[in-house]
Amino acid sequence: MPQTILVTGACGYIGAHTCVELLAAGYRLVALDNLSNGSREALRRVERLGGRAVPFVEADVRDRAALDAVLAAHPVEAVIHFAGLKAVAESLAQPLRYYQDNVAGSVALLEAMAAAGVKRLLFSSSATVYGDPAAVPVGEAAPLGATNPYGRSKLMVEQIIGDLVGSTPGWRAGVLRYFNPVGAHASGLIGEDPRGVPANLLPFIAQVAAGRRERLTVHGGDYPTADGTGVRDYIHVADLARGHTAALARLFARPGSFTLNLGTGRGHSVLEVVRAFERASGRPVPYRIAARRPGDVAACYAAAGAAHKLLGWRAQRDLHAMCADLWRWQSANPDGYAG
Ligand code: NAD
Ligand code: WQD
Repeated sequence: MPQTILVTGACGYIGAHTCVELLAAGYRLVALDNLSNGSREALRRVERLGGRAVPFVEADVRDRAALDAVLAAHPVEAVIHFAGLKAVAESLAQPLRYYQDNVAGSVALLEAMAAAGVKRLLFSSSATVYGDPAAVPVGEAAPLGATNPYGRSKLMVEQIIGDLVGSTPGWRAGVLRYFNPVGAHASGLIGEDPRGVPANLLPFIAQVAAGRRERLTVHGGDYPTADGTGVRDYIHVADLARGHTAALARLFARPGSFTLNLGTGRGHSVLEVVRAFERASGRPVPYRIAARRPGDVAACYAAAGAAHKLLGWRAQRDLHAMCADLWRWQSANPDGYAG
């Protein structure tokens, strides 16, 4: 009998890609999302790619009664918790919304899991918990210290999970710190569908290449990096999705909890990404170099060895594949899922 996994935030960017991997690995899924930043169409396409139906519950993770009903109706053995808000600038303007959604939502989910006796969890954390890293590559033992409410909400949930695992026998939790997820499924059927002006680099570049925006503003050309622009660890979302199936397999195979970086271990500058996208798309990406964006760090990339050691997982796709797959999604879906 295949195991059943509850996926919160399944209609979002990373959730949808991970659902495709989970279906391919043979799991049964239950998808839960409040559709605040996700699309029902994403899940329909997941079903198409996976060749199987995925029951969908439109609900908020803060809704304890809805969670209890889902856990009563399905034989859930583990939860992957993607649901949450993720925009750094928005979190500075609306901190309580972020603590409510990300922290209170996670507490409600953990309470519902505990009540139902479901004690296996993967949690979407972020490299943002390292704040401004003192040294790169950043290992899991590096000092933590988020610099904005979004980052603090992730750090708080990591600590809450740590307290729960430490206090109650039987829990197995995997905290996964993602670096910069980019790209799209190679089919071009699912991808990132930002609402409004994209805050992140790759979706913005894709819209410039598509002619929807005039030019990219490069935030800072005077960082202490090789070409002066910011360096990040971009990871293909399909590799990230595979990281979740590897982490889930580990949770089922052995007791114990873990905190792991999911990154490639390689940094790329903004200008390297621009050039890679031009090559992959065959379109120009005009840009201008402007002031630094407040809160940005010069360079952040992962020490990626621990995930390989524990899970046998390693990112495989390079920057060209990330750009080519994003361009395929962007070209086929110029208006995202609404189109
Ligand atoms: P996303 O916004 O595309 O997906 C999140 C999904 O959760 C959306 O479909 C949204 O509708 C849903 N959701 C939000 N609040 C909810 C709530 N209270 N109840 C039910 N559903 C809710 O974001 P994503 O990029 O797929 O990110 C998934 C997770 O990974 C998030 O927790 C995010 O913080 C984390 N993360 C993302 C990145 C990134 O750059 N994309 C990096 C590190 C960590
Ligand atoms: C990447 C690089 C920018 C836009 C954020 C969150 C982090 C995580 C991932 C969730 C930087 C530069 C960007 C633009 C630019 N999310 N840039 N022009 O800031 O590394 O991380 O998303 O957990 O928490 O902070 O990603 O894509 O915004 O920026 O020059 O229009 O591109 O300065 O060097 P970031 P990003």
